Amino acid sequence: MQRRTLLAALAATLAVTVLPASAQSPRLKVGFMLPYSGTYAALGDAIEKGFRLYVAEQGGRLGGREIEYVKVDDESDPAKATDNVNKLIKRDNVDVLVGTVHSGVAMAMAKAAKDNGTLLIIPNAGAVAVTGPMCAQNIFRSSFSNWQPGYAMGEVAAKRGARKVVTITWKYAAGDESVGGFKEAFEKAGGQVVKELSLPFPNVEFQPLLTEIAAIKPDAVYTFFAGGGAVKFVKDYAAAGLKNTIPLYGAGFLTDGTLEAQGADAQGLLTTLHYGDGLDNAKDRAFRASYQKAYSAVPDVYAVQGYDAAQMLAIGLNAVKGDISKQADFAKALEAAKIDSPRGTFTIGPSHNPVQDIYLRQVAGRDNKVIGVATKALADPGRGCKM
Ligand code: BEZ
Repeated sequence: MQRRTLLAALAATLAVTVLPASAQSPRLKVGFMLPYSGTYAALGDAIEKGFRLYVAEQGGRLGGREIEYVKVDDESDPAKATDNVNKLIKRDNVDVLVGTVHSGVAMAMAKAAKDNGTLLIIPNAGAVAVTGPMCAQNIFRSSFSNWQPGYAMGEVAAKRGARKVVTITWKYAAGDESVGGFKEAFEKAGGQVVKELSLPFPNVEFQPLLTEIAAIKPDAVYTFFAGGGAVKFVKDYAAAGLKNTIPLYGAGFLTDGTLEAQGADAQGLLTTLHYGDGLDNAKDRAFRASYQKAYSAVPDVYAVQGYDAAQMLAIGLNAVKGDISKQADFAKALEAAKIDSPRGTFTIGPSHNPVQDIYLRQVAGRDNKVIGVATKALADPGRGCKM
């Protein structure tokens, strides 16, 4: 062999054996589209932290591919959502979209994901349409549908003897669908929703509506609020003198990640959610210790949903050996998976929404203490989904 040929062969061998693995298979680009400002900012932050934690635990690689990140602040603003998601898909060429918190923004993301064939994993937003009429092979949720915690609380409220209930929420998909789930179960059990109160997202001028509740004197109130708005609502409800007279029931977002700010005003509140404190399973213990070590903070439901979004990506990527273009095989793997989550094991239903236990929790100190299972293995009906 001539000297020059020999050198070329040697260089080729070195390229395979000496170059880091990351240079051999291209990195997988994850685009976070989350709220990093506004009333849901803390929720976006916790989701990103949970996602990154799982990836770090796997040495920074999923399905053999090194993970890199880009991110966009969606400001929980549906009007900016299409532009924002297109930045990630068209400008940044992401392989996977991870987002978001707000249901209205998530619906724009789902449309873009469907139109462009980009994989989308939703780590919070419960918009029913996304795993209903908009469902698709490349769209998954690691969180819940808005209907699920509401439905579970409708059953709980009826069992606890409430007959006439007032609901209060923000007027957008999440609030409407949470109340819809509650009403469906509550009225099936013989109760009656006597008034549905709402205000535009993200307004927090609750006083006139609290005055109306005091005048109606229902047996209980059901509510959906989250983030900064939930903190203010719980405090205003107590300040209006309603806490000790009219039981307040909520989807668990009312008191998740918010207890430090709500303090005494949240004590004793009952909520329903797919995560809580004191679950006492091995996965949750390990997750909490790891999260605490990484961020010096206690994780909440949003952190769990971020962590599980990364776990779901790993399951799909492992099945296709990192080749994300194999969407049918990716989906098949997730549809068959049992996901070992800090919330307890869950599965992915035919419309790609989690089938999961919904817990009944009660606030005690800084904990949303799990006091029982409100509804076991609850599946969203997935109405209108045709895969
Ligand atoms: C939603 O918009 O779907 C949502 C936002 C915060 C908490 C839960 C749901």
